[in-house]
Amino acid sequence: MRIAVLVSGSGTNLQALLDAESQGRLLPGVIACVVSSKAGVGALARATLAGKPALTLSHRDFASRELFEEALLAALSEYQVEAVVLAGFMRVLTPYFLARFPDRIINIHPALLPAFPGVDAQRQALHYGVKITGCTVHFVSPEVDGGAIIVQAAVPVEPDDDVATLTQRILQREHRLLPLAVRWLASGRLLRQGRHVRVLP
Ligand code: GRF
Repeated sequence: MRIAVLVSGSGTNLQALLDAESQGRLLPGVIACVVSSKAGVGALARATLAGKPALTLSHRDFASRELFEEALLAALSEYQVEAVVLAGFMRVLTPYFLARFPDRIINIHPALLPAFPGVDAQRQALHYGVKITGCTVHFVSPEVDGGAIIVQAAVPVEPDDDVATLTQRILQREHRLLPLAVRWLASGRLLRQGRHVRVLP
């Protein structure tokens, strides 16, 4: 299954996917291309180093969200993409885009959804005072961070944590969780029934 990874930042989750692919842990998933919504980010350098097509598509270069998504769809079709992984992609995709890849778009979020959706999830968790947070891989639906949950991992919040230390601890779990979920997706093992996702044997 040919996969596009959409990014906007440093791309440590992308790196985890690239490493998994090079070790045969993503099969039958293949990373076909990487698309960034921001120029010059670390994720683009990681993609290039791994020999992957690395494109920048900034929404600022398009007059509307629809035109941005048309350009994105055109790029994905050029690389014969069949599934999309959002790995720190900071744009909200419209229902029109989502409908082009039904049950084939997944996202990773740095909290145990439905707690702390949206931006700054680690800061939200620290502010709330939870003792456990984590990360969630979920199908993408029109509601931001609201799609059916595929897999989650819990991470403790330590008394002296700040956003940086907590972010790092969560990222370590993200890097194990995302390649696993992508492999399940690529091998057709994810069965979604409404909000419930079953991982087939
Ligand atoms: C991760 O924390 C991910 O959960 C969130 O954005 C961050 C991306 O980090 N959606 P990176 O670019 O993969 O390092």
